[in-house]
Amino acid sequence: MSFYKEIAIHPTATIYLWKIEEEFIALFRQVSLKDTSLARLESMKSESHQKGFLAVRMLLQHLGYTDFDLFYDAFGKPHLKDGKHISISHSNDFSAVLISDALMGIDLEILKDKIVTIAPRFMDVNHLENLNQLDKIKKATVVWGIKESIFKIKNEKGISFPKHIFEEAFRLTDKRGLAQLKFNDLTEEYCFQFEFVDNYALVCAFQN
Ligand SMILES: CC(C)(COP(=O)(O)OP(=O)(O)OC[C@H]1O[C@@H](n2cnc3c(N)ncnc32)[C@H](O)[C@@H]1OP(=O)(O)O)[C@@H](O)C(=O)NCCC(=O)NCCS
Repeated sequence: MSFYKEIAIHPTATIYLWKIEEEFIALFRQVSLKDTSLARLESMKSESHQKGFLAVRMLLQHLGYTDFDLFYDAFGKPHLKDGKHISISHSNDFSAVLISDALMGIDLEILKDKIVTIAPRFMDVNHLENLNQLDKIKKATVVWGIKESIFKIKNEKGISFPKHIFEEAFRLTDKRGLAQLKFNDLTEEYCFQFEFVDNYALVCAFQN
């Protein structure tokens, strides 16, 4: 069992993390899956993706839910039958779920050098000025996570990370900040929080 940890980010919102140390078959044997989930699992090309998917079900079971309590809308956004909100992310050796009373989004990303190269495509690179290379990687990964998290909350077609989601300036030591979504003539304020777990950035966002 590789339940890793839980992080209470709010009185009514908790993040649960699974560190994937098991073989595929060990995970597979421990979860009960709906037929649709089984079909999805079989259609996944990489074993790493399959393990991430199964680890989410392990987390659900750890919390007293099963795969049968989870369903997806037409955009691929997950929902729980009991009305609580859920957001899901997986990256390499970790899976994360965020269970909350209010709508929230989560993103987990492994830290990679390449993020700094592609940063101009999705963020305000002024926010990377005067940082050493490691901090540039960390901050750009957090900004990516902020935008993925807000996207997961809104779940609307047409949202572009560089054109519609704007992070305000923040420091890595702040562990939180603000961002705006400007889309379809509306401006919405979001709070974000982040932390680093092993060599991953864990980010969540919620409406302010
Ligand atoms: C859907 C998307 C948010 C997934 O993010 P990702 O980093 O690839 O993968 P993650 O592991 O973090 O998240 C995957 C989970 O997100 C959830 N998800 C998928 N579509 C979703 C949606 N429309 N809304 C909310 N959550 C969604 C699912 O639970 C999925 O996991 P599961 O299917 O195994 O349950 C992402 O692929 C996407 O479409 N992003 C926006 C597109 C974009 O603008 N990209 C770059 C612009 S520069």
